[in-house]
Amino acid sequence: MAIASLIAGNWKMFKGPAEATSFVSALSPAVAAAANELDVVVCPPPVSLGAALQAGAANVQVFAQNVHWAEAGAFTGEVSVSMLVELGVAGTLVGHSERRQLFGETDETTAARMVAARAGGLQVIACVGELEAEREAGETEAVLERQVGALADAADDLDGLVVAYEPVWAIGTGRVATVEQAQEAHAVVRRILPVPVLYGGSVKPDNAHELLGMPDVDGALVGGASLDVASFAAVCAAGARSS
Ligand code: 13P
Repeated sequence: MAIASLIAGNWKMFKGPAEATSFVSALSPAVAAAANELDVVVCPPPVSLGAALQAGAANVQVFAQNVHWAEAGAFTGEVSVSMLVELGVAGTLVGHSERRQLFGETDETTAARMVAARAGGLQVIACVGELEAEREAGETEAVLERQVGALADAADDLDGLVVAYEPVWAIGTGRVATVEQAQEAHAVVRRILPVPVLYGGSVKPDNAHELLGMPDVDGALVGGASLDVASFAAVCAAGARSS
């Protein structure tokens, strides 16, 4: 049995359409074995979603990185659920810490995006996680209770919903949460919202198996290591490997 259920690669603002097509075409055979046991997802930037889908890889799902809560309207720079569904996108991230920190996303906007996406049939990976200062102040549990509580209050049903715990101090820093820190945070998330919980923050091929082996870690949301076919395939293989 696989030790993870879902491994997602968040490309952030990397890879245009041509690269998206060639990447997914190369990734598909590289994850053939792993994808028999778990879901493999890539999250390209909006302009590359169509190209990633056109690669036609049945074993690689394509998710957006964000979606708006309104059906249509004067929301410059945003994308609606129905636009993503029309393209064939299967799901979306919401509330990534870069959205929260750099673009003013809140618990409320994150929840609104989640609700609209679920209502439109998209799977959702909702991201939560504490800042370094919050962890140092002993506030991790309170932050998670607030962030996950806002999702739990808004969610009509939990089907199709996944939470990604991404401690902000571990994102793109090479600093990874210890397996105990990840397990502890995941248990808090799952107490409030009983859905699969992914870990994100400097997941690499060499730490993935240990992290994914923890009982409340159901998968990974991978940034930097998802930009290379071999390293992302290695993380997927680690998740597919029995403990
Ligand atoms: P890194 O894996 O580069 O730390 O990024 C994590 C992340 O933010 C995934 O959403």
